Amino acid sequence: MQRPETKRPSYGGYRTAIITVAVTVILANFNSSFVAAQQGNADLTGNWRVQTQNSDGTFRRQYFNLKQEGPRITGSIRLTQFYYLIKESTGGPDGFTLIATMKDGKNERRVQYEGKLVGDELHLQTRRRPEDKPTELVAHRAPAGEGAMPARIEPPARHQVPYNGLAKTPPMGWNSWNKFAGRVDDATVRGIADAMASNGMKEAGYLYVNIDDTWEGERDARGNIQTNKKFPDMKALADYVHRKGLKLGIYSSPGPNTCAGYEGSYGHEEQDARTYAAWGIDYLKYDWCGARNIYTDEEMPAVYQKMGDALQKVKRPIVYSLCQYGRLDVWKWGAEVGGNLWRTTGDIRDAWDSMTRIGFGQNELAQWAKPGHWNDPDMLEIGNGGMSETEYKTHMSLWAILAAPLLAGNDLRSMTPATLAILTNRDVIAVNQDKAGKQGSQVWKSGDQEIWIRSLDGGDKAVAVFNRAAEPARVSRPWADLGINPKSRVRDLWEHKAFAVDGTEYSVTIPGHGVVMLRVSR
Ligand code: GLA
Repeated sequence: MQRPETKRPSYGGYRTAIITVAVTVILANFNSSFVAAQQGNADLTGNWRVQTQNSDGTFRRQYFNLKQEGPRITGSIRLTQFYYLIKESTGGPDGFTLIATMKDGKNERRVQYEGKLVGDELHLQTRRRPEDKPTELVAHRAPAGEGAMPARIEPPARHQVPYNGLAKTPPMGWNSWNKFAGRVDDATVRGIADAMASNGMKEAGYLYVNIDDTWEGERDARGNIQTNKKFPDMKALADYVHRKGLKLGIYSSPGPNTCAGYEGSYGHEEQDARTYAAWGIDYLKYDWCGARNIYTDEEMPAVYQKMGDALQKVKRPIVYSLCQYGRLDVWKWGAEVGGNLWRTTGDIRDAWDSMTRIGFGQNELAQWAKPGHWNDPDMLEIGNGGMSETEYKTHMSLWAILAAPLLAGNDLRSMTPATLAILTNRDVIAVNQDKAGKQGSQVWKSGDQEIWIRSLDGGDKAVAVFNRAAEPARVSRPWADLGINPKSRVRDLWEHKAFAVDGTEYSVTIPGHGVVMLRVSR
């Protein structure tokens, strides 16, 4: 089994993932409190910045905007996409503790720092969990106001964004995040496009090559978003991908920052849509992240509508993928704001428990999927090494029954033949891409065994018998319960064999964590 090279972070925990090459000391514009400190009235009041440089040339910045009022320290802490208010404090310049919190939908996030003033530096320590080794940070004074959350822009009034005519079947392609996280770059994307165009995936229907978070640079003087060092020329990259007969996707956030702390599209929605169109981008994944500091969950539809409109104003067809982890029942309004697909859950991990919790948890959502508008239970983990071949077949079968987007998340340049065979199983893909666009649902469950059926165009049915237990299990069901009659033609989609309908029931032994997938034709 292949092993992932590094564990990718979840959206909430990106803090340590980017390789920081140097802690850059910035000699800030000294503000008045610094002058006061030099004069001997040392206190913590001021705007403090911790800055590290990522290997892609971008900076990662944290701000501690502190006010010391006698024994109390108040103020805010900005950690890339997160903006916390200080709730509790003890101590002063010689040693203090800060506890800060923020509301995130229904949850509350909390951070804690210990620190002290050392000369003109603020030395800080923090831990993600009490048992962790502390992360040490050094902050320097920054100009007042730097790093403050931008002012709130009122979301637009709601209206229906017309359907863009895209994604008539669930999008197929590849996305960088699951395997590469912050390590994706131009050369990798070209290599993936080469692989997809030559290994049979393109012929099997895989089309989009999607760059996830960490391509972003800073904005130029006119506010135009630029790429960072990892992507020297996005237009040239798009041309390259297009020459292979494939399409290029990109990623952003409606907030000021993305989940990895890079520049988001906040206040630049139309400008960014124009930039994407000029580069030749064909797909946008738009990830809530930093927007949580500015908007409530109830405002999500209007905020997503804004980019939905912006994408339609540019005359380039761009698939619109909403990513807000299924909050506020996105399936009920995703299509109205112009979405072609919407994430229904938090991030998938390359593990059986994560994949099955997500995949088997989609049953209630079937009614919301339709051509042009899909539930998205997240990208595939097939081939990333954390599950067995049997489990990856279950993953592929389940995503096919669910009419879920098939975005491979592995390294297509170096996968095993077994992984490629799973990803390119034409019979299973035909179920996924069925043009009736009806999502399947669970029709039977007993203990760890479940049967799901998806109705297909022309009256065919896809039947998947899953065994979620670790041990093999025998399942026997009357043929009629599977929608099968003695005249039906039945094909096993993993064995690639037709078989006869005899007797009164279907009996099959399914390996632990395995599946049998059938296509029943009248
Ligand atoms: C969130 C998303 C992921 C990925 C990361 C990138 O966690 O849910 O799919 O895009 O952000 O930072």
